[in-house]
Amino acid sequence: MNFVGSHVLSVSQFDRPAIEKVFAVAAKMEPYAQRRRVTRVLEGAILGSMFFEPSTRTRVSFGCAFNLLGGEVRETTELKATSIAKGESFYDTARVLSGYSDVIVMRHELEGSVAEFATASRVPVLNGGDGANEHPSQALLDLYTIRKELHGRGKAIDNLRIALIGDLRYGRAVHSLVKLLCLFNNVQFVLVSPQELALPEPYVAAIRAAGHKVVESTQLQSSIGQADILYVTRTQEERFPSLAEAAKYKGLFRLNQSIYTEFCEPNTVIMHPLPRDSRGDANELDNDLNENPNLAIFRQTDNGITIRMALFALILDVADDVDKHARDVNWYTARRFQ
Ligand code: CP
Repeated sequence: MNFVGSHVLSVSQFDRPAIEKVFAVAAKMEPYAQRRRVTRVLEGAILGSMFFEPSTRTRVSFGCAFNLLGGEVRETTELKATSIAKGESFYDTARVLSGYSDVIVMRHELEGSVAEFATASRVPVLNGGDGANEHPSQALLDLYTIRKELHGRGKAIDNLRIALIGDLRYGRAVHSLVKLLCLFNNVQFVLVSPQELALPEPYVAAIRAAGHKVVESTQLQSSIGQADILYVTRTQEERFPSLAEAAKYKGLFRLNQSIYTEFCEPNTVIMHPLPRDSRGDANELDNDLNENPNLAIFRQTDNGITIRMALFALILDVADDVDKHARDVNWYTARRFQ
C-alpha cells in the first residue's frame, strides 16, 4: 500500500505489511502521544474535521493527533451548520473544503458517503465511520491494542481467540476489525449476539474463506470461557428503525465482574470500541469492572491518538521527519499512561 496522498476509506486497503508499517510508525509516535516530546512537523497544515454524526473519541483524537504533529484543526460538527442544508451538493462541498485543508476526516450516517465525498476531494480523506459500514481507524487502533495486550501475556494475533459480543449487525467497528483479523493466521472467532443482530453473512463467509474457525452463539456465559479477548459492543440504537425496536436488544448481554470471574480464563482482556451504554436498560459493560486490570478500554482510547498520528504522518509523508522537528516538553505532564 502506498500511503502518501491516499484516502483511507476501508480496511480492505490494508495488507499485513501495511498494518505493520502503521504499527511501526505508531510506536515511534508514543512519546509525542504521551506528551513527553513535542514535534512541529506539520506546522502550517490544516485538518478539516467533519463529523456529521455524534462522536467523542474519534473526532477529538483525530484532532489531537493532528495538533500533536503541529497542525491546526477546523471542525464542522453538524450538517445543518453547512450549506448542504441550503441544497449544496456533496460534490461542491468536497471541492470547496478540500481547498481549505491538507487532509480531511469525515463521519456520516450513510454507508458509502465518505467514499463519495473522497471522489470529489482534492486532498486525502479518512473515513471516521460511515453508517453501519466501516470504521477503519478504530479497527487499526483495536488491532494495535490487541497486539500490545497479548504481547504482555506472551501471545500474538496469530492463534488469537476472540469473542465478539453484542450488536454485530450494525457495529461498524466490528465489521472493520473482522476484516483485519482475517489477514492473520488461525484466529478463532466466537460471535455472540441475538439472531437478529448477527454478523452479516458476507463477514462470516470471509472468516471461513480465510480458514479461521467461527462459532455463533446467543448465550454470553457459555461463550466466553476460552477467549483471549472479549470485544463487547453497544446496541447501535441510532441504526434501528425505531428506539422501541432497539430497546428489545439492549441489556441482553451484560458483562460484569462476577460473570468475568466465574466464566473467563484469568487475564482475559476486555475491550469495547466505546461509547459503552451505561444507562440502566443497557449496561453491556458494567462499571464494577473499572478496577479490573484486564479492562483495556482506556488503553484502547489512548492508542487512538497514536494510530491516528501514524496515519497522518504516513499520508502526509512526514513519518521520517517527526524527530527532526522535536523537543522535550517544558510543562508538567501527569503520569497518566500505562
Ligand atoms: N469508538 C468511537 O467511534 O467512538 P465515538 O463515536 O465517540 O467517536
